[in-house]
Amino acid sequence: MHNFVFHNPAKILFGQGTIEAIGPETRAWGRRALLVYGRSSLKESGLYDRILASLHAAGLEVVEHGGVRANPLLSHARQGIRLARARQAEVIVAAGGGSVIDTAKAIAAGTPVEHDVWKFFTGKKSIKTALPVTTVLTLAASGSEMNSGMVLTNDDTREKFGFGHRLLHPRTSILDPQATCTVPPDQTVFGAVDAISHVLEFYLTASDTDTPVQDRLMEGLIENAMVACERCLRDPCDYHGRANLMWTATLALNGLTAAGLGRVGFPMHLIEHSLSALYDVPHGAGMAVILPGWLRAYRTTLAHRIAGLGGRLFRLAESEPLAAADQTIARFAKWLADVKAPLTLDDLGIPAAAIPAIAANTRGLARTWRLADCTPERVAAILRHCLD
Ligand code: NZQ
Ligand code: ZN
Repeated sequence: MHNFVFHNPAKILFGQGTIEAIGPETRAWGRRALLVYGRSSLKESGLYDRILASLHAAGLEVVEHGGVRANPLLSHARQGIRLARARQAEVIVAAGGGSVIDTAKAIAAGTPVEHDVWKFFTGKKSIKTALPVTTVLTLAASGSEMNSGMVLTNDDTREKFGFGHRLLHPRTSILDPQATCTVPPDQTVFGAVDAISHVLEFYLTASDTDTPVQDRLMEGLIENAMVACERCLRDPCDYHGRANLMWTATLALNGLTAAGLGRVGFPMHLIEHSLSALYDVPHGAGMAVILPGWLRAYRTTLAHRIAGLGGRLFRLAESEPLAAADQTIARFAKWLADVKAPLTLDDLGIPAAAIPAIAANTRGLARTWRLADCTPERVAAILRHCLD
């Protein structure tokens, strides 16, 4: 196990009836708040009224920046930064899924500085300060509620970049599983797949694999994401199903799984970011297509590791590594089909002819993320495994 520092300052309030704490939790960081939210679900579910009432009751002045779309845009975050500056916001409240929380983080980082916020994403500037962020999570998926990452699409260049900094951890995140009962089946599946992929990518790219504690933790998270997802599909209001999915997704990318693994990469996410930058597919839908394709592309080099995972997850009897790896990949693909996830680029409406352009689009982020192995040629080869 490698040396590591695990420091996650995000405070989590988990469970039923926690939404009303958003007012006092936010008031601890300032008096003027910018409330960031998405398009329609927050108002439709009634959460908007509850959150606003709690913020007002705590004595906060609230300015709103709604309309965040899935695969959030840099231009919309820039509007939020201008608004936050004009209204001298002291704290940013995010109420939504990963797109909303990531936009809130970009506003938090971009408001105090003169330069454009995109410079953080490209590594041209580093974050020295950021406004505090509090969140009410409404979708189990990204893990943004407890991590330091943010992902935006630059609408001018069609680049979707992710960036992390310790000052971007939310100060408090409220995780009430009931808030996710309205998430439709497809988004529920996309969220579960995203959580699985967060764990799986670290599991398969770790430079140190003598890590039994981390391995059992990661296998448990993957298994639970699958089981909890199935429960939520059977009954969208199964509180314990929603609770397990929510906490799994949070733990899947809060820094804990990577502790001790040495260097890890995010090569599947690299490719997905280009899919959604160019084709605006939901992030988890893109991951569902890339995940088995990526596994097929690495079935030989990673046979032992994939087989080990399959042995634990699916209790495979097969002991020969390559055969067990293939069975594991087939089991993942079957599960994805069972929960009606998209399985091929075609299912996402992406033609095979688009592969070279998608592969070329990964170049910038591969450089920023220092994924030297992920050349456009290799990415194109992986994408060809996602055709059928
Ligand atoms: O806009 P509204 O109307 O709110 O609808 C949203 C949106 O259409 C809807 N939704 C959210 N909560 C709901 C709900 N519908 C009904 N009931 C609710 N309670 O769901 C749709 C998708 O929302 P979105 O926030 O886009 O989904 P998700 O949480 O999966 O976030 C995806 C974004 O996060 C980024 C992705 O790249 C993508 O841009 N990621 C962020 C990460 C991070 N910050 O660490 C890591 C991830 O790997 C990921 O890249
Ligand atoms: Zn993801």
